[in-house]
Amino acid sequence: MKLLHLDTSALGTNSVTRELTAAVVARWQDAHADLTVEYRDLDSDPLPHLTGRSLAKADPAQAEADEATLQQFLSADVVVIGAPFYNFSIPSTLKAWIDRVAVAGRTFRYTEAGPEGLAGGKQVIIVSGRGGQYGDASPADFQEAYLRQVFGFIGIKDVEIIRAEGVAYSPQHRADALAAAHASIRSPMAEAA
Ligand SMILES: Cc1cc2nc3c(=O)[nH]c(=O)nc-3n(C[C@H](O)[C@H](O)[C@H](O)COP(=O)(O)O)c2cc1C
Repeated sequence: MKLLHLDTSALGTNSVTRELTAAVVARWQDAHADLTVEYRDLDSDPLPHLTGRSLAKADPAQAEADEATLQQFLSADVVVIGAPFYNFSIPSTLKAWIDRVAVAGRTFRYTEAGPEGLAGGKQVIIVSGRGGQYGDASPADFQEAYLRQVFGFIGIKDVEIIRAEGVAYSPQHRADALAAAHASIRSPMAEAA
């Protein structure tokens, strides 16, 4: 079993999502002795923006790296993603990764009946960190709603969100939100059952 662990926060050791993704991955490691974990820190080791040159595969080394990023995603059974809420959306480093894995003909395709996702059968766990409080259905949410849309579009039905929000309101809000988020991490065994 393979787990891909992505962190994207720019806040280093002060990051809420980094703390929580590590806790989620630790739970999976405890539950699955055979688990292989691949880790990417897209903040310290970002992918370049998607450009016309990268789409055209003009740079062989970049094309090879992009294919490796796609294969790493395709081969994962579980993907754990730290997704901070930055400027009403996600970090651009995470967007650059999504641009490498949401690929026509590879993870989705258009048919005469409409779009079809091709990357089903894996589980995505999104760890959401938010300075403010937006709940489940805010019109200002271009983070969780966007990520659900992207992963749903490419065929992934099993998308779970672990959220710590309101963390910028006060140190107490942050501590409470983190404690609630930790408590909401479900047992991987129960999920797999
Ligand atoms: C560049 C930047 C932009 C942010 N934009 C927002 C925002 O639009 N709305 C919000 O509620 N919080 C915003 N925040 C606060 C973060 O959502 C909050 O710090 C959260 O903990 C981010 O997750 P992290 O700690 O893992 O980086 C922003 C923080 C940063 C650093």
